[in-house]
Amino acid sequence: MVSRAPGARSGRTGRVNATAVIAIDGPSGSGKSTVAECVAQRLDLSWLSSGALYRALTRLALDRFGGIGPPGGLLDLMRDTHWTVSGATVYAADLDLTATLHSSEVDSLVAPVSAIPAVRTAVNRTLRARVAGGKWVVEGRDMGTEVFPDAVVKVFLDAAPDVRARRRARQRGSAGRLAGRIAADLAERDRRDRRKPMGALRPAADAQVIETSHLTVTEVCDKIVAVIPTNFPPE
Ligand code: DC
Repeated sequence: MVSRAPGARSGRTGRVNATAVIAIDGPSGSGKSTVAECVAQRLDLSWLSSGALYRALTRLALDRFGGIGPPGGLLDLMRDTHWTVSGATVYAADLDLTATLHSSEVDSLVAPVSAIPAVRTAVNRTLRARVAGGKWVVEGRDMGTEVFPDAVVKVFLDAAPDVRARRRARQRGSAGRLAGRIAADLAERDRRDRRKPMGALRPAADAQVIETSHLTVTEVCDKIVAVIPTNFPPE
């Protein structure tokens, strides 16, 4: 089932232009970033990875505090930093953090960082401000459920755990060798993501669920483009 926003209302949250969003959620390795970029290119939209912002906050905290520090420090860091997110690129003020976001250190600490409700609220505010007035594909865990509940189209991508682990290993140039460790790490992050008190990983009630284990990126992209209303973005 696919959600279609009823006209151009601003939605129950009252946010301007919240309907000019295509929301893609799913677990790690389900192909969200690649697919979001593909859909954005096809329709000439901007896209962003919300996970990249959680990773960038984690990276900055590690650099500033030598760890993730207390929740209050993290929250101040999130609020006091001027963030620019575009695709999977993240700047903190004029510092490009993109190349540092996938270290094993960030991998292991981003889950506790993103589990703090006050941090999520601050991240969500930054994401909404970023997309305001534009036409966006956004991807993450809670784009369709929490951050953009009025998104025109909501998609939840999934894939079998072993397929997702192989994709991640390939992405990191470690096919085979580290696949076992990556699979264990993904399973642990899935477990944490699904149990978060706020922003838990789950499909929105009105999301279209796409099982991508046996599909190519182009096939998934085609399926999503096919359900986007021809009048997107709404006037
Ligand atoms: O998609 P990713 O693997 O880059 O996400 C990194 C982490 O951030 C992952 O542990 C889940 C978390 N995350 C989240 O809690 N909410 C989002 N909207 C996006 C990511």
